[in-house]
Amino acid sequence: MTKENLEKLLNDAAKKCGISESFSVVFSNMPVCDFQCNSCFSVGKILKINPFDLAEKIVEKIKSNECFEFAVARPGFININLTEKGVEKLAREIFEVKYPKQSEHIFIDYGGPNLGKAMHIGHMRSFNIGEALKRLYRKLGYKVTSDIFFGDWGLPLGLIMAMLEKEGTLDKYISGQLPLTIEVMNRAYPQANKLKELDSSFNARAQTLTLAFQNKTQPYYDFWKKLREVSVAEVKKVCKLLNADFDLWKGESDANDYIDTVVKIFKEKGLARQSEGALVVDVAEPGEQIPIPKKTEDEVQRYENPMPPLIIQKSNGGDLYATSDIATIYYRNKLYNPDIIQYLTDVRQSQRFVQIFRACKKSGISPSTQQLWHTAFGTMNGKDGKAFKTRSGGNVSLLELFEMVQDKVEEKLKQNNVDFDAGLKRKIANSAIKFADLSNVVEKDYIFDIDKFTSFEGKTGPYILYTACRIKSILSKTQQFDLNFNFYSKEQKNVVINLARLQQSYKSAFYERGLSSICHALFELTRAFSTFYNYEKILAEDDKGKRDIKLSLCKLTLKEIISACDTLAIEIPDKM
Ligand code: ARG
Repeated sequence: MTKENLEKLLNDAAKKCGISESFSVVFSNMPVCDFQCNSCFSVGKILKINPFDLAEKIVEKIKSNECFEFAVARPGFININLTEKGVEKLAREIFEVKYPKQSEHIFIDYGGPNLGKAMHIGHMRSFNIGEALKRLYRKLGYKVTSDIFFGDWGLPLGLIMAMLEKEGTLDKYISGQLPLTIEVMNRAYPQANKLKELDSSFNARAQTLTLAFQNKTQPYYDFWKKLREVSVAEVKKVCKLLNADFDLWKGESDANDYIDTVVKIFKEKGLARQSEGALVVDVAEPGEQIPIPKKTEDEVQRYENPMPPLIIQKSNGGDLYATSDIATIYYRNKLYNPDIIQYLTDVRQSQRFVQIFRACKKSGISPSTQQLWHTAFGTMNGKDGKAFKTRSGGNVSLLELFEMVQDKVEEKLKQNNVDFDAGLKRKIANSAIKFADLSNVVEKDYIFDIDKFTSFEGKTGPYILYTACRIKSILSKTQQFDLNFNFYSKEQKNVVINLARLQQSYKSAFYERGLSSICHALFELTRAFSTFYNYEKILAEDDKGKRDIKLSLCKLTLKEIISACDTLAIEIPDKM
C-alpha cells in the first residue's frame, strides 16, 4: 500500500541520516499535496533539531522516485505528491488488492433477540454493526464465526405458556389441534406481561412453567421447542430485511448443559462464596475505583465503589443470564477455540461484561491468551433526543421502524417519478438505515431522522446507491474497452486518492471496531466521483484512449463501491 511504501522510503532515508525514530505518513487534507508527513515536529523535538532542517535533510536523502514528488514546507512538513506514474501504480494496487490470510479466529456474538418478545430497535444496532464487523474481518483475512445468541431460555416463553393455559388453549396448541403462529405469541406475550404485574399467582405459574421447560419436563419442553421454532422463523425474516446471516443460531438454552460444570469450576477453585443465599464470585481488583462519568467538563472526577461481585447462582437455585454467558464461553472454547470473542450490546450491559470477562479469566475458563471484547453501542433516539417512539407514542419494534422508513422511501420515489417495485424500496430503505447507523461512532447515541436518512442527496445510503447505479448505467451503455489506468486529470487523480483512502479505512475500522471511517471514506469517494462525472464527458469522449481511461475509472470505482457496500451489508440495486 502506498502509505506503507512512503513510510518505508522516509524511514530508510532517516536511517541514512543516522536517525532511528520512525516517520509516518497520512493522507493530506490540504490541497497542496496528496500525502504528508508531520513527524519532523515530534522527531525534531526529541533530537533537538529544527523541524524544517530535519525535513530538508530527510528529503535530500530520498532518491528521486518516478512515483512520488517530495517537497519541504515551513515550518517542517514533508509534502508528497503522486506523479502520473504514481497514480497509475496506486490504481493498479487498488484493483488487484488481496488481503493476506490472518491466523486469528474471531468469534462474534451479535443480534441477540429475545424469543417471545417483539424485536426492538436496540437489537437493530447490534445486527447492523455486528454483521458489518463480521464481513470486515472476513475481508481482512480473518476466520470468523458468528452466533446470534438468542435469549431463548427465560421467562417470556414461560409467560406465553401461562397465558395460553389461562385461556384454556394450551392443550390444543400442545397437541397441534390449534396451529401455533407468531401472531398467537405476539398477542399472548404483552397480555401476559401486563397480567404478571397484577396477578402474583399468574406470575408464579409462569415461573413454574419456565422451570418446567428448563428442567426438560414434558410436555412443556417439547412445546418450548415449538415456540422457539416459530419465533426463530420470524427472526429470520428480520435478518433477511437487514441482510444479516449467522453461522450459528444458538442461544442461552444451549448453555444449559454446561452450567453445572462451570459452577463446579468456580467452587473447586475456591472462587465462589455464599452471600445472602446466592453464590457469588468476587471480581473487583485490588484498590480499584470506577470513575463515575462527569456531567460537565470541569466537574471533579468522582469514583464508585469497586466492581460488585458477580452472582452465578440465585438463592432459589435458578440460573442466571451471566452464568449462561460464562457457560457459553466455556463451550465455545471447547468446540471452536477462538482467539478473540467479541460481543455487541448496548452500553447498559458494559458492567456485566467486565464482570463476566474477569470471572472467566480468574477461573481459566477463558485462557490468558484469549481476548474478550465487548463493544458497547449508544442508543438510537427520536428527534427530541429521547428514545424513539411511534407517532402514537408507543415503543417501536424493529419491523415497524423498517415499515416507517420504507413508507418515506416510497414517498420520495414517487416525488422523483422513479419506477419502483417492492425490492427496490426495500433496498433503498435498508441502505438508509444501515448507512446512517454505521456512520455514527459506535458508542455514541444518535438521532434517527428518517427524512434526512432517506434523502437522495448528502451523506446518506440512498446517495451511495444512486452513485453506484449511475456508474452501472454508464458501463451498461458501452461495448468492451481496454483497461487503462493512465489517469491524467486532477479530477481523475482525486478519485484514485479517495479509492486509496477507502481501502485504508478498512484498517482503521478494524482498530476502531466500528464502521464510521468506512462510511465516511465511501461518501468522500462518491463525492470525488461526482465531481469527475460533472467535469468530464465520459461516453461522449471521442478520443478512444481517453475514453478507455475514463471508463476504467468508472469500473474501478464501481468495484470498490460494491466491495464497501458488501462489507456494510448494503445491497445495491441494478438501477434507481
Ligand atoms: N438477549 C440479550 C438482550 O436482549 C442480548 C444478548 C447479547 N449477547 C450475549 N452473549 N449476552 O439484551
